[in-house]
Amino acid sequence: MGRVIALRCKECGKEQAVSPVAACPECWAALEAVYDLDEVARTFTREAIAQRPADLWRYRELLPVETKDVVGRGTGFTPLVPAPTLARRLGIRELWIKYDAACHPTLSFKDRLVAVALTKAREFGIGTVGCASTGNLANAVAAGAAAAGLRAVVLVPEDLESAKILGTAVYGATLVGVRGNYDRVNRLCAQLADRYGWGFVNVNLRAFYSEGSKTVGFEIAEQRGWRLPGHVVAPMAGGSLIGKVEKAFKQLEQLGLVEGRAVAIHGAQPAGCAPIAGAVKDGLTAPRPVKPDTIVRSLAIGDPADGASAIATIQRSGGRAENPTDPEVLDGIRLLAETEGLFAETAGGTVVAATRRLAEAGTFADGEPVVLLITGHGLKTVEHLADRPAFSTIIDGKLSDFEAFWERHGKAAVA
Ligand SMILES: Cc1ncc(COP(=O)(O)O)c(C=O)c1O
Ligand SMILES: [Zn+2]
Repeated sequence: MGRVIALRCKECGKEQAVSPVAACPECWAALEAVYDLDEVARTFTREAIAQRPADLWRYRELLPVETKDVVGRGTGFTPLVPAPTLARRLGIRELWIKYDAACHPTLSFKDRLVAVALTKAREFGIGTVGCASTGNLANAVAAGAAAAGLRAVVLVPEDLESAKILGTAVYGATLVGVRGNYDRVNRLCAQLADRYGWGFVNVNLRAFYSEGSKTVGFEIAEQRGWRLPGHVVAPMAGGSLIGKVEKAFKQLEQLGLVEGRAVAIHGAQPAGCAPIAGAVKDGLTAPRPVKPDTIVRSLAIGDPADGASAIATIQRSGGRAENPTDPEVLDGIRLLAETEGLFAETAGGTVVAATRRLAEAGTFADGEPVVLLITGHGLKTVEHLADRPAFSTIIDGKLSDFEAFWERHGKAAVA
């Protein structure tokens, strides 16, 4: 079923056999799955894909698994919806939202990666899986492991948003809170993968796991009638998603499923943790690690594993990067909700706020379609919206109370 022939080092190019390894044994750089595209092309056609169920496994030839017994049926194939009101507000001619806040089962794009990683874990005969997470991955691994009959050990910074913590524990996972930020959690997980031989999805299963992000790109192309957009704006934490969207478009082009065209891929990070966006703005080829200080916990990775390749993707594609402040992020969440009825978590607010800055700078002046990646649901990060009262008023439930309120409120609304 799979067409992966090797794992190739992203730095030195050395290839090795498909196995659960974290990095190149020569230079410790990250690994990339290599496909036999001639073999893929035999069965991967527009017509064949159209016949398949509406989930990420419709692109199975370009995912690094062999088995038909996959985890995560029903995951992916999220809505790609037009956003005309937001487009007008931002001065963009044609705007689309790829809404992974609706991803099955835990409302973020991480469900895609976990579907691939846990399928691979079962292929390797691994019984215990784990992850280091800024929150969304924790939800996805815990839920996926429960459904797949695997044991899950999940490690997160102990001060994450409560929906991310409770929404992991509910699935019965062993959830370890770590005092410290994500980068510390991640270092510990690398040690645990070595020590216990467990399958850490973003450590020793990373080369497989990360390929799940390509399905965002495949879907955008298919849902647009196999045409690529002119621009994509992606959130960045570890910097993997943005590069995988580029890889997806490139693979479709190599297979002749889409016409090749320049897609500018832009990256968004919050100002309080912008090692990749900052490097792009300064013309650097590698990120400078930072200590995160932002409400955007899902993107708070100070030392991004795929930072250099994210920078390369942005520069190669003619994209830009933006780093909006936390208040801009909250405005971005509210703007998307009020214009399009879509509720994004802080990562999505970061994308909308970055897009506003990019639009003001004339980035989309070519009039080509723009797709925003909204990767997680706003119900996961509601505490950050507590800066404004939710109620317009609180009354005793008498008609006269409401009338008195409406008299004032209606006038205020008109004024
Ligand atoms: C909601 C959300 N969007 C985007 C990202 C960034 O993905 P990457 O680490 O691949 O850059 C994350 C990572 O945790 C996330 O949780
Ligand atoms: Zn190497």
